[in-house]
Amino acid sequence: MDTVRQKFYITTPIYYVNDKPHIGHAYTTIAADVVARLHRLLGEDVFFQTGTDEHGAKIAQAAEKAKQTPQEFVDEISAKFSFAWDQLDISSDDFIRTTEPRHKQAVAKFLTMLKDSGKIYEGEYEGLYCVGHEAFIKESDLVDGVCPDHKTKPELIKEKNWFFKLSEYGDILKERIETDEFRIRPYTRQNEVLSFIKQGLEDIAISRPNVKWGIPLPWDPEQTVYVWVEALFNYCSIIGFGEDEEKFRNYWPADIQVMAKDIIKFHCIIWPALLLAVDLPLPHAIFAHGFFTIGGQKISKTIGNVIDPNDWVAKYGADAVRYFLLREVPFGQDGDVSEEKLKIRYNGDLANGLGNLFSRTTNMIEKYLDGDVADFAVSPKDLSAAWDAFSTLNFSEGLVKIWEEIAWANQLIDKAKPWELVKTEPEKVKELLLNLTGLLYDIAGKLAPVMPDTANKIRKIIESGDIKKPEPLFQKIE
Ligand code: MSP
Repeated sequence: MDTVRQKFYITTPIYYVNDKPHIGHAYTTIAADVVARLHRLLGEDVFFQTGTDEHGAKIAQAAEKAKQTPQEFVDEISAKFSFAWDQLDISSDDFIRTTEPRHKQAVAKFLTMLKDSGKIYEGEYEGLYCVGHEAFIKESDLVDGVCPDHKTKPELIKEKNWFFKLSEYGDILKERIETDEFRIRPYTRQNEVLSFIKQGLEDIAISRPNVKWGIPLPWDPEQTVYVWVEALFNYCSIIGFGEDEEKFRNYWPADIQVMAKDIIKFHCIIWPALLLAVDLPLPHAIFAHGFFTIGGQKISKTIGNVIDPNDWVAKYGADAVRYFLLREVPFGQDGDVSEEKLKIRYNGDLANGLGNLFSRTTNMIEKYLDGDVADFAVSPKDLSAAWDAFSTLNFSEGLVKIWEEIAWANQLIDKAKPWELVKTEPEKVKELLLNLTGLLYDIAGKLAPVMPDTANKIRKIIESGDIKKPEPLFQKIE
């Protein structure tokens, strides 16, 4: 009999292709990957989306600067994102690019529905536009006349736009958020969104008459769809909206949408309001993590501190980078990362901690048991607390729990001194080593969502039942 598997749909933001990926983008994508892998291991029907946001003035300007056509430019940079995700062992089920026909078709259909909803009207707008944000910005948000995030002067724009009646959605959004029907976490972000709603929502322009690099409005093709509106809809186009209704109905609404705190207003106000307007269900949850700094400074090209995740992967391996980013900063909080910090975790937690436990256990198995672990015992320790933590996105907490077990096992070896005990009580040493094998096996299982390759290596060696000279998992770095 077929059992219906629970579906689980998880998303990352689609990243702008004005520049290649950095470790901030990698962070969100790794976090979502861990949750996707966990739910797959739990037997669920998982769909894990990611992709790139390729239209709008910001991208068109970056292409111009690079002296390329927008299409050539976005092709090149989007490929860098998918390459980086491959290197980092990201298990996404699909990768959407907003320049793909399937997305353009879905957006055209969505915009037509929006128009039919009666929530769209034509008007004039005059305001300051920050290209870096791809959004209008208030005079009161400027610092010394420039956008505080991008340090650029916004453009004064006066144009004819199509508007969406966002102002009508304050009360219903408030209710959905307060009842947790639409969950925003952590609570600090929920409060931020609620207080923003409380100030009163204004209607927003959903089209741009002078931006050519975009998707034409179905009923007024002289205008293109405002880039944020079409970008948000990627979460629906990737699962077949307007094309494969069965697939779309199976996966929508998203179970969790992961991002950093910088884009919550778009995801917690504009996005749900647009969905309500066209009668689509809201995502169950939004989780916004914090921002990384490097050596205490904002990640920025001008400062010159941008870290390419590929460089770290090449030096330390994907699993070490995944471990480091999730272990170093509690998810949800801001935090600082650097290669120095990565090295400390690598040598300490990975080489000396897990790596050492694995090497000494397997070396002793080879020496004292002739490699034979065919009857290894499954550990009595229950590590499911680690998975509980991962599934609520408390990655560092889950990893700390696993590393407590690793430390405990290493201490057990130090105390038992099997190299002495073997002379008088070889049976006890055998029992100890088989228990340690079981513990390692269990640890590998719990670690699998975060460090899939390491987990796989450990499990394969143990499952072979005959341990002979395994390679060290992590070589210490000077
Ligand atoms: N294209 C929009 C998102 C559209 S989603 C419908 C966008 N792109 S972005 O390239 O700027 O990506 C922003 C996201 O990248 C953040 O929300 C976060 O996931 C990640 N990060 C970028 N810099 C980061 C840090 N310094 N620290 C942590 N995450 C960072 O916004």
